[in-house]
Amino acid sequence: MVKWIVVYSSVTGNTRKLAEVAAREMGADLLNVQEIIGSADIREEDDEESVSIDVCRNSLAISSETLDRKLEEKLSGYDGVMVGYWLRKGAPDRKSSILLSRISGKKVALFQTHGAYDGTEHTITAFARAGSMLGPGNRILGTFSCQGAVNPALIKRRLEGSVPGHRGEDLEACKKRWADAATRPNENDLQRMADFAKKMKATAERE
Ligand SMILES: Cc1cc2nc3c(=O)[nH]c(=O)nc-3n(C[C@H](O)[C@H](O)[C@H](O)COP(=O)(O)O)c2cc1C
Repeated sequence: MVKWIVVYSSVTGNTRKLAEVAAREMGADLLNVQEIIGSADIREEDDEESVSIDVCRNSLAISSETLDRKLEEKLSGYDGVMVGYWLRKGAPDRKSSILLSRISGKKVALFQTHGAYDGTEHTITAFARAGSMLGPGNRILGTFSCQGAVNPALIKRRLEGSVPGHRGEDLEACKKRWADAATRPNENDLQRMADFAKKMKATAERE
């Protein structure tokens, strides 16, 4: 039987809620990526210009070797890894980017939360970015995407026009999107996740 772990990254709780449902549904272990990568070393709430994964690695408080060892130890007992991340600049958040690059030889399911509407080009491209970050020899079994409430602190800064890369945007469209996202993930999303997790579990047994 395929043994699963659900590893997630979450600042405001959207991704965590979905991860908890997935783990419960699959009978999987649950791990917050922060427990391995730490919290003080990478600030996720800010919105400064994006940095490459290599720069992230260099800024880690723990050495690359220690991180590799810790991740290998944590993941070694599992055949299946479900990774849950939130979108930051159209890609997995920094901690998840590091995690993804260290996963190899596993059955993988990806899920993501984001302020953008479900099924948009933005969110589909993000899956391609997440997949390209994975280490070698994995098999991606499926993907799940869900809009999630956006941190009010970020919304405030966007409304003030102080976030680089977003100046001159259509603020009325943004306000509508943020309002629609404010109640997500909702009960329907949690049920969708339960269905997805069940499906991934069954798929992994077959493939
Ligand atoms: C700094 C920052 C950058 C973000 N960038 C994006 C983005 O590029 N695309 C998007 O759809 N949502 C973006 N969001 C929204 C988050 O991905 C979304 O609110 C997510 O559900 C947060 O997950 P969490 O509650 O698990 O932390 C961003 C949020 C923050 C704080």
